[in-house]
Amino acid sequence: MKKTWYKEGVVYQIYPRSFKDSNGDGIGDLRGIIEKLDYIKELGVDIVWICPVYKSPMVDNGYDISDYRNINPEFGTLEDWKELINGLHERGIKLVMDLVVNHTSNEHPWFLESKKSKDNPYRDYYIWREGKGKKAPNNWSSFFTGSAWEYDEVTGEYYLHLFSKEQPDLNWDNPKVREEVKKIAQYWLDLGVDGFRCDVINIISKDCEFPNGRFRIGITGCEHYINGPHVHEYLQELNRDVFSKYDCFTVGETVFTSADEALKYVSEERNELSMIFHFDHMFVDNIYKWFLRPFKLRKLKRILSRWQYTINGKGWNSLYLENHDQPRIVSRWGDDQEYRLESAKMLATMMFFQQGTPYIYQGQEIGMTNAYFKDLSQYRDIESLNIYKIGRKYLKLSHNRMMKKLQKMSRDNARTPMQWDDSENAGFTTGTPWIEVNQNYLDVNVKQAQKDPNSILNYYKKLIKLRKEHEIIVYGDYQELYPNHKHLYVYERNLDNQKLIVITSFSKKPVKFTVPKNLKYTKS
Ligand code: GLC
Ligand code: CA
Repeated sequence: MKKTWYKEGVVYQIYPRSFKDSNGDGIGDLRGIIEKLDYIKELGVDIVWICPVYKSPMVDNGYDISDYRNINPEFGTLEDWKELINGLHERGIKLVMDLVVNHTSNEHPWFLESKKSKDNPYRDYYIWREGKGKKAPNNWSSFFTGSAWEYDEVTGEYYLHLFSKEQPDLNWDNPKVREEVKKIAQYWLDLGVDGFRCDVINIISKDCEFPNGRFRIGITGCEHYINGPHVHEYLQELNRDVFSKYDCFTVGETVFTSADEALKYVSEERNELSMIFHFDHMFVDNIYKWFLRPFKLRKLKRILSRWQYTINGKGWNSLYLENHDQPRIVSRWGDDQEYRLESAKMLATMMFFQQGTPYIYQGQEIGMTNAYFKDLSQYRDIESLNIYKIGRKYLKLSHNRMMKKLQKMSRDNARTPMQWDDSENAGFTTGTPWIEVNQNYLDVNVKQAQKDPNSILNYYKKLIKLRKEHEIIVYGDYQELYPNHKHLYVYERNLDNQKLIVITSFSKKPVKFTVPKNLKYTKS
């Protein structure tokens, strides 16, 4: 297998809005990240991925971009950004940016042109269709609830938006759109970025007949665009014309993609993406996110092992338990009360020793927990607010029931401000934070964790260091042991004559485990 920096590295994901505010307006910004560069360096990570900081009306916190080449004023300026990338590079850390090109903001100049008339040169940058009588062109639903089509009076047609109506989908079948995307990627690569996290990249190619979809809550129609007809062709084109010309890496966000399907994206000889984020393990405790079901360890193990076996030797995995779209893992699969420390460390271990590039989401390294907001007005996320409305109105679920769902699954659980210390607002801002700080910041914060040798933070640092010292952690083969065990997740890694065995327990009670006799040990 090809050896490269992005396989050997560890990624730290920053959600800029909630990381560190430098000017007291309550919103995290680029200068805030610059203030914390030494913290990031000390953690030992090699790559930083920052969520979108481009110009945006912020309907979906920056995933609705109105200018791909500039920084949103609330985050700072292009000069600040240059200082940030230099600061990272000086410390030997690479920078990965979000590439959000399935859709733009409805305030992007292309869309403003596109909606003007049917013969506007930008009309075909987006997906416009006539309605069926008074109805939308088909029954597809938006990921953020409701129809995926919005009627526009000016030309009397509908445009497609798989997310909010402020996020119209680009028409990738138009070669001009693909050229624009290439130019955007090139622009940032020429400014020095080291790679991209490609937002919802497996839904860029839609079935151009736009047939009705099979009814499924929240995702009706998805079989007509998930890993759609030309997606691989378009990615190969992007890779050939842009990515392959730079020493960069790409990680694709690919919803509803199986491990076998993933090989088409990440097999090294296909030249598409370096790795992808799959969602299989994120559905272990729910169906389509909002229908919760009990967590079953055996199911999680089966999923993770399948990915390990399928990708090994052919492509590369990404390893993650948290990001800005998921609740906090220690609240989700661990115990965020009595065993917060133990379960956060256990989950880190379980993930870190698998084959793939580990991603740590800001705050995960100090065991930040879900927000447990008690009032709907505390939520900011468009998806969460929409789902609340739908649940109440159409599913007739009680207020309490919906609030429970949000407490468990809302994206805002991961978006509360980073907890730096025990001062007001956890040291995140001197102003009023755009979203409330988690109440537990007096106990859970970076300053405390730095002092305590037994902290989750110091444990993460050890894991990162170990991974650098032992090649087996990066490149070793994976083999699961005791797949039917209900409480333990045990696996081994093998490289040449070395063996590494990882034993993690998901139980609150002691579990008996006898080490297999045929194992030989080296002290470490
Ligand atoms: C991705 C992002 C998410 C965003 C969506 C639309 O899933 O991670 O935050 O809302 O794409 O761009
Ligand atoms: Ca600010």
